[in-house]
Amino acid sequence: MAGDYVLAIDQGTTGTTVLIFDREGAIRGRAYSEFTQHYPRPGWVEHDANEIWDVSMRVVGAALGDAKISARELAAIGITNQRETTVMWDRASGEPVANAIVWQDRRTAPTCDELKERGLEKTFRDKTGLVIDAYFSGTKVKWFLDNVEGLRERAKRGEIAFGTIDSWLVYKLTGGEVHITDYSNASRTLMYNIYDLEWDEEILNILGVPREVLPEVKPSSYIYGRTSPSVFFQAEIPVAGIAGDQQAALFGQAAYEEGLAKNTYGTGSFVLLNTGTEAVPSREGLLTTIAWGIGDEPVEYALEGAIFITGAAVQWLRDGLEIIRDAAETEELARSLDSNDGVYFVPALVGLGAPHWDAYARGTIVGITRGTTRAHLARAALESMAYQTRDVVRAMERDSGIRLRELRADGGAVANTFLMQFQADILGVPVEVPEITETTALGSAYLAGLATGFWESREELDARWKLQRRYDPQMDEGGRERLHKDWLRAVERAKDWDR
Ligand code: G3P
Repeated sequence: MAGDYVLAIDQGTTGTTVLIFDREGAIRGRAYSEFTQHYPRPGWVEHDANEIWDVSMRVVGAALGDAKISARELAAIGITNQRETTVMWDRASGEPVANAIVWQDRRTAPTCDELKERGLEKTFRDKTGLVIDAYFSGTKVKWFLDNVEGLRERAKRGEIAFGTIDSWLVYKLTGGEVHITDYSNASRTLMYNIYDLEWDEEILNILGVPREVLPEVKPSSYIYGRTSPSVFFQAEIPVAGIAGDQQAALFGQAAYEEGLAKNTYGTGSFVLLNTGTEAVPSREGLLTTIAWGIGDEPVEYALEGAIFITGAAVQWLRDGLEIIRDAAETEELARSLDSNDGVYFVPALVGLGAPHWDAYARGTIVGITRGTTRAHLARAALESMAYQTRDVVRAMERDSGIRLRELRADGGAVANTFLMQFQADILGVPVEVPEITETTALGSAYLAGLATGFWESREELDARWKLQRRYDPQMDEGGRERLHKDWLRAVERAKDWDR
């Protein structure tokens, strides 16, 4: 009784979500679990790749239980993942050589400075579409090779594999048979030429990364291999879709046409604009990245505004400051005020990403008076998500010449109606929330379903996108601009702090 469902594993920065979809694209089972974050030093963030694997399989089991189906009833598996996070493992034993270095980790900022001082920014940008920043995998791989004893020699002998989380999961799922990644994840490594669609020899030399560690790069919708029954619930299921979580969300939002954009509000927020088969270079501090490649079709590109911290600022209010019980409470707190009373929070907790790219910026709260309360901090945290989004959207419009007509929103924070309305107000364009807001998992399920013939075409998927709620701008131009001007003043104060 093969094949009535597609299972998506969404392996994110703070947790793994597994969703099971039926042919209509309805969610039939779900499960989620957080896993351990390691902060061994200030600015460092690590994950244990073995724990990620164990937790992910536990969550798959729970989701199958929730759907009341067996793994044998799956038609395909899609994977979507926190991007850039770097795992290196021993090919013979399958053991990671150390904890994975997470995308948020800043330990390689000095290496990036050095590369910039050597005048290499243009080289990297022209080939990879990215800026030189500790965010991407390339300098993290170099760090492993430089710092784990004997690793470079073993790597040169072909004994070591590098992968982003998608590669690691596919390797584990297939019982160590398959070492691959997809175009969208490769395009985040700082080592992949997004125009030639090849690992770039010159960059590999600059970083001192031996070719032997690299995965093979495949389309985002493609049968990579089958699960090994001994590790995957006694079932042999095709693993058939992979995309980095932000690209998967763009796919799940059915943003298949040039000019359509989405913002996913998660740990950070990532605005992606589909630019079709043309890669649009950025002059405004955005990233040019591969959106996906479907089978043999030409790859499609996106412009991306990567904002490192949005939801994580609210998490910090909860876990760091302990001034809120849960994220939802921020809505009520924000609404308890008529305005922000001049309090701004720049959540540069791991530096600033697009469009500033300042690894040395740090979190800054300005405008505090004796009347400031936790409500102001909650409101400032929510407002900061909207301001940061506006900054990258405007940059995107200048780069692409496309004026955004609406922004499709997804991710956990779309439940916050204060935030969504404020976002529309600050952007001056409507914000649209779809019925299925778990677009990341949905996107990877779609990719897997297309590769296996479970779904026929993108047109079929597009027809499923349904609007749940639309937020129209209500703030007048003057008000919007005044708030934003003060936000920019606050950003200036956060910059270059931890040099
Ligand atoms: O580039 C990092 C991004 O992929 C992380 O996404 O949702 O796990 O915070 P998320």
